[in-house]
Amino acid sequence: MMNPKLNSILEEFNTTLNTSIQSSKLNTSLEESMRYSLEAGGKRIRPLLLLTTLNMLVDEGYQKGMGTAVALEMVHTYSLIHDDLPAMDNDDFRRGKPTNHKMYGEWLAILAGDALLTKAFEHIALEVNLAPEVRIQLIQLLSNASGHLGMVGGQTLDMQSEGHKLELAQLKMIHEHKTGALIHFAIVGAAIIAEAPSNVKNLLSEFAQQLGIIFQIKDDLLDVYGEQEKLGKPVGSDILNDKSTYVSLLGEEEAKAQLQSHISKAEQILATLASEYDVTNLNELLKLFYQRQH
Ligand code: IPE
Ligand code: IPE
Ligand code: MG
Ligand code: MG
Ligand code: MG
Repeated sequence: MMNPKLNSILEEFNTTLNTSIQSSKLNTSLEESMRYSLEAGGKRIRPLLLLTTLNMLVDEGYQKGMGTAVALEMVHTYSLIHDDLPAMDNDDFRRGKPTNHKMYGEWLAILAGDALLTKAFEHIALEVNLAPEVRIQLIQLLSNASGHLGMVGGQTLDMQSEGHKLELAQLKMIHEHKTGALIHFAIVGAAIIAEAPSNVKNLLSEFAQQLGIIFQIKDDLLDVYGEQEKLGKPVGSDILNDKSTYVSLLGEEEAKAQLQSHISKAEQILATLASEYDVTNLNELLKLFYQRQH
C-alpha cells in the first residue's frame, strides 16, 4: 500500500522495536506483557511520521531518529493499554487481539504501561547518535507531549466529558491533546533532530497540528462507520461510553466536512514546504491519515 521507501523504513523500525525489550533476571511476565502489546501490530504511524520527516529534512538521515521513534511508539502503546482498561474505555480488542488486561489481568497491564512509558525516556537518553543537548531537548518535548499538558491531560478531559454534550471548541481541545500531542512530537521531534531552521520548524508544527485533528476525526468516524475486522478494535465503543465525538456532535456529513477543511489546510502547508523539500512521502502519509480503514 505504501511506496517502497516508506515500507523499508517501516520494516527497519519494526525490527528495531521488536528487539527493544529484553527479558530480565527478575523472571516475571512483565516483559512478555510489554512485548505483547508492542508487537501486536499497529500502524506505526507516529514513528513513520518522525522518520519520514527526518528523511525529508536530512537526505537519507532517518536512522538518527530510530531510538526516538521507538520511544514514541512505546509511549503511544502504553497510552493504548491504559485507555482500554475497564476504568477507562473498557475495550476487549486492540490491534486485532485481546487487550493487554484481557490477556494478563489488570494489574500487570497497568504495570506494563508504566514500564513502557519509563523505558521510552531511557531509549532517548541512550541514543548515541545524537548530541546530549539534542537528547535533553527531545526528552523535555516528549515528556511535555505525554503528560498533563499533553496526552494525559487530553485523556483526562476525555474521561471527564463522558455523558456531557460538549461545544465543538472543547472537543477540538480534547483531540489536540489526547491525540494531537504525540503526533506533534513525531514531527517537531524530527525537526529538532535535524536541527531545522525555525521557519521550517514552525511550518512543520502547524502541519502537525492539522494532522492530529485529522487523525482523531477519522478515528471518531471509524468508531461508528468502520469494520471491526479491519479496525482491529471494537466499533461503537464511543457510543457505549457516551463520549462526545465529531460524529456524535456534528453528524457524519459535517464531521467529514470538518475533516476535509483540515486536510486542505495541511495540504497548503505541504505546498509551502515543497519549495524547499521533497514532500512526496509526507504527502503519502497525510493521505494514509484520512484514507485509512484501520
Ligand atoms: C489509536 O491510535 C489511538 C488514537 C490516538 C486514536 P492508532 O490508530 O495509531 O493505533 P495503532 O497504533 O495503529 O494500533
Ligand atoms: C485515545 O482515544 C487516545 C489515546 C491517547 C490512547 P480513543 O479512546 O478514541 O482511542 P481508541 O479509539 O480506543 O483507539
Ligand atoms: Mg479513550
Ligand atoms: Mg479508546
Ligand atoms: Mg477512538
